[in-house]
Amino acid sequence: MADITFSNPEYKDKTVYAVAGSHTETVLKIAKGNRIPVEFDCENGECGSCVIHVTSLDKDKPRMGYHLTEKEKQVLKEIGKLSSEDLEKMIVDDLPSEWRLACQFIPRDEDVLIEY
Ligand code: FES
Repeated sequence: MADITFSNPEYKDKTVYAVAGSHTETVLKIAKGNRIPVEFDCENGECGSCVIHVTSLDKDKPRMGYHLTEKEKQVLKEIGKLSSEDLEKMIVDDLPSEWRLACQFIPRDEDVLIEY
């Protein structure tokens, strides 16, 4: 149960409501279902073309911890969005990553801004 606002300088921002209990839909699937042109290729967490920047819009709550899949860690490192130090810090401090792959990221009950 969350509002997801998609933002890109070339398009108007669009906010969609992710239905409660639908914790199986990735951001890419939600974007496609709402005709939001998030780029993608493999849809399997391997190419990095669907990289997104995620920010919480729930200013009163701390960001929810999301765990990156091993594939995401690898790809985000390869495309230069995360370093080994960033990954280590996220694990030690239990912090979520601001960079995700839309085809792997399943939003939870948190309002987020997705920049693509
Ligand atoms: S579409 Fe290839 S990593 Fe998401």
